[in-house]
Amino acid sequence: MKVLKAAEKEILFEVTCPSEFSPEVLNSLKWTEALRVMRFYLGRRVCNEEDAVKLLLGSYPTWVVYSADKNDFLSAPTEPPVRLTPAPQMDLEQLRRVYISTNDSYHDSIGKPLSPAESAERESVLSEFLPSAKFSAFKNNGVVMALLVVVKWKDCFDKPVDWVPWVWIDRSLLPGERAFVRSKWKEWLRGIVEDRVQCIVEGENMRSRKFFRGMGFHPECLVISKK
Ligand SMILES: CC(C)(COP(=O)(O)OP(=O)(O)OC[C@H]1O[C@@H](n2cnc3c(N)ncnc32)[C@H](O)[C@@H]1OP(=O)(O)O)[C@@H](O)C(=O)NCCC(=O)NCCS
Repeated sequence: MKVLKAAEKEILFEVTCPSEFSPEVLNSLKWTEALRVMRFYLGRRVCNEEDAVKLLLGSYPTWVVYSADKNDFLSAPTEPPVRLTPAPQMDLEQLRRVYISTNDSYHDSIGKPLSPAESAERESVLSEFLPSAKFSAFKNNGVVMALLVVVKWKDCFDKPVDWVPWVWIDRSLLPGERAFVRSKWKEWLRGIVEDRVQCIVEGENMRSRKFFRGMGFHPECLVISKK
């Protein structure tokens, strides 16, 4: 694996094909005392990251960075389900409240509630990015049922990129309603993304990984951290 970028705490490798990962390759990775994160850049269009993710998850906390060009979002028109309406008018305080409550309930649901330190870190990220974020939300009876947030951030080469820090669809929405929301979000992303948009998803979060693949994203980078 070729080293593309190395710093004290992070290293970026290039992997031409996910099948380059093997137990032997994993065992040969050298963690220096200071090194915290290894990133494996997969290039622009690999087809299947599953085997590599499974292998990495067996040894390390693992994430997948997904990426899409704005033209990757191809939506088919769908009829609006009667009970969902767009919610474009949330102010910053409302947006912050919905972001935090849905993010908390997701962490509770997977049995990993945020520690006070993690909550404080999320708070500082939200203070920095949320005021200039774009979002698309849908409501039912005044209650937000789906939220997608996009902020400005940078990719693994430090180039500016649009970034999805949070997406959430209420578990009570029916399959047709979920499909409607996804289709609307593709249309929305095609309109607001400048060039490329990315996100990072925990390897275990199959729902979210399937969601991003289904939206038109492809895996661009695998990330592991020291245990
Ligand atoms: C991510 C999310 C928005 C996707 O919503 P959605 O597109 O409506 O999809 P669903 O939640 O219904 O599930 C997505 C797919 O994963 C599948 N799935 C769910 N759990 C799974 C599991 N444990 N293993 C494998 N597949 C799984 C579902 O069957 C569905 O597949 P299908 O589309 O082929 O039927 C929604 O699951 C959510 O709000 N999750 C909690 C918040 C979250 O994880 N946000 C992302 C953080 S990065």
